[in-house]
Amino acid sequence: MLEQVAEIIRHAQRGVVLTGAGMSAESGVPTFRGNEGLWAKFRPEDLATMDAFIANSKLVWEWYKWRRDLIRQVKPNPGHYALAELARWIPDFTLVTQNVDGLHRLAGSERVLEIHGNILKNKCIACDRAIELDDEIDPKQIPACPHCGGKIRPDVVWFGEMLPEETIQEAFEAAERADIFLSVGTSALVHPAATLPVVAKRHGAILVEINPDETPLTGLADFNFAAKSGELLPELVEMLSRVGKTE
Ligand code: APR
Repeated sequence: MLEQVAEIIRHAQRGVVLTGAGMSAESGVPTFRGNEGLWAKFRPEDLATMDAFIANSKLVWEWYKWRRDLIRQVKPNPGHYALAELARWIPDFTLVTQNVDGLHRLAGSERVLEIHGNILKNKCIACDRAIELDDEIDPKQIPACPHCGGKIRPDVVWFGEMLPEETIQEAFEAAERADIFLSVGTSALVHPAATLPVVAKRHGAILVEINPDETPLTGLADFNFAAKSGELLPELVEMLSRVGKTE
């Protein structure tokens, strides 16, 4: 089965990979919905929403500070490096990630569409400007925006918020023209991200899913690998290197 996917990639001109929290699981970043998931302790509605932030900014910042401290200690895993390598095999390659941990860039992926933002960045809740801060935010003393005095928040997309328009538009355009679309390490439950593989499939792409668990995509995919991304992706790239690209 993996040989077939490698063969398709060898002939592919346009490819898209969508990644979710499972991509970073082997780096030690807990997923959201697995039983060890971040949400196991919290409910999304309690923390990752504007209402939650207005109601209790300190609690929301405590959670993001805990996640930031964790993410600063983790490293990309072999799956991240394999995706950076995979980009070399497909002329028009787009990497779309729901992850906010920045690990794809750290692993060398150049063009990464961070459709849910980046947890290490800050912005003002009122004027929406990006805010550079020298040191970490203290949840007990949330700084005010130097431009308008509004509260500073993490620059990530919260539930019920719009995704960065250009970024998600670019992701859908890539999905529509893809020859092959890989959905890796995502539960495919949160939209519009989870709509991307469906759009790709509808426009004729071969759909490949890499996830130890079943998801709503599993029945739709042409190929399913019940495997860890950190193990399967390096195997796929190694197979490509063995045989080389077919022009
Ligand atoms: N390799 C591949 N997949 C894995 C691995 C692994 N090593 N470990 C776990 N998984 C799978 C799980 O089976 C699960 O289906 O990764 C998926 C992670 O799903 P979620 O925790 O729901 O994460 P994600 O799909 O990225 O969530 C989407 O929801 O909370 C919001 O904004 C948040 O971006 C997030 C979005």
